[in-house]
Amino acid sequence: MTEEAPIKNFENFTSQNGQADIFQKAHDLDTFLRSTTPGYLDGLGLQILGPMTSNVKIQENDNVIHDVIMMGSNSYLSLTTHPRVVEACKTATDQYGYGMGAVSLYAGTSPLHRELESLIAQFYGTEDAVLFPCGYSGNIGVISALCGPGDVIINDTANHASIFDGCALSGAEIKLYLHRNMRHLEKILKRLPASQQGRLIVTDGVFSMHGDLAPLDEIVALARQYNCRIMIDEAHGVGVVGSTGRGTAEHFGCTREIDIIYGTLSKTPGAIGGYCAGSIALTRYLRYYARTYFFSTSIPAPIVAGLVEVFKLMIEDTAGRKELMENVRYMLTGLKALGFNTGETKSAIIPLIIGDEEKLGAFQNDLRRNGLFTNVVTYPAVRRKECRLRLNVMNTLTREEMDRALNLLNTFGKKYSIIP
Ligand SMILES: Cc1ncc(COP(=O)(O)O)c(C=O)c1O
Repeated sequence: MTEEAPIKNFENFTSQNGQADIFQKAHDLDTFLRSTTPGYLDGLGLQILGPMTSNVKIQENDNVIHDVIMMGSNSYLSLTTHPRVVEACKTATDQYGYGMGAVSLYAGTSPLHRELESLIAQFYGTEDAVLFPCGYSGNIGVISALCGPGDVIINDTANHASIFDGCALSGAEIKLYLHRNMRHLEKILKRLPASQQGRLIVTDGVFSMHGDLAPLDEIVALARQYNCRIMIDEAHGVGVVGSTGRGTAEHFGCTREIDIIYGTLSKTPGAIGGYCAGSIALTRYLRYYARTYFFSTSIPAPIVAGLVEVFKLMIEDTAGRKELMENVRYMLTGLKALGFNTGETKSAIIPLIIGDEEKLGAFQNDLRRNGLFTNVVTYPAVRRKECRLRLNVMNTLTREEMDRALNLLNTFGKKYSIIP
């Protein structure tokens, strides 16, 4: 830390332009955090003492243990604790042991892995699907396998970090359009040189920090006009959005026109992993050329067994989506009535836009210490002036829990002048 450039924000630590030892930034951050803890960091990395349900015990960093209503989990349909899912995991542990011990192409594929890939393909109506060990790394693998130097990838600015990392690794040209701004997207597409035919538009289906949806109908029309492929990341859409929970593309009625359907197995599916659904040619190509598939050990069979049950439940649409959407409506109506700015959410993610990091940290700490767990979202996930609290709704929240949550949000929202 130099005297000329006092450190106020986290981004100040990340680069020293090659002018210092690479460990210097770690020492600087350590010194900073020993002298002060910004309020918005207090609620990070806490321990959850039990299964992920809508009511959990947490351990604070000062070791205080208390109960909270959980609105900080992506397990929207509570499938992490669904009896059928848990039972399948237990049975498969006895049958297969707890890990695979190899990458998929060597010795890391079981009949359960193939069954899950087939179910995912059936869910989306594609020819096949390929599993990745992690949601983050799957995006990196897919994008960097398909795109390379000379190609162009056109991104919504609010896309997930894993998409941007995949783009960076690919070596392709990267272009950004303003969040959900189709005029801006078209302006970019119009200017692409005719000689550049390797073109991919990538977008989150549901934006993870906003809860709003990519306008896929318009993206599809532009992609056809300007000869681009489309990749969609359904991480937060699967099981939640669309008339049968098949995601954002179903919501817009354009599933068949999406070239690459990507999703994670960590949010509604409740476990870990990623998948890409598409044609047999595409999935076969990815098995050989996506390095995060080829060089990375596959998902343990017990987890895959649980995910097989998850996809059966989602195919039947009996996983609890209707109850979830009722809870979302209830919370959203309550929050709007209190005067919160909830952005343009159309999913189970409800942002409360605050725009002041100090207020945000204090608000989240008070809520949590008094029984409501939420996520603090600021840089680098969103711009500081758009920092926000993120509420994730679960299908198992009771009316009593939601009323208690709304009361706490009202009390502390007023305390910090976030609402009138
Ligand atoms: C849109 C999106 N894509 C990908 C990921 C990465 O998924 P995972 O956490 O399963 O690695 C996330 C996680 O937050 C996400 O929100």
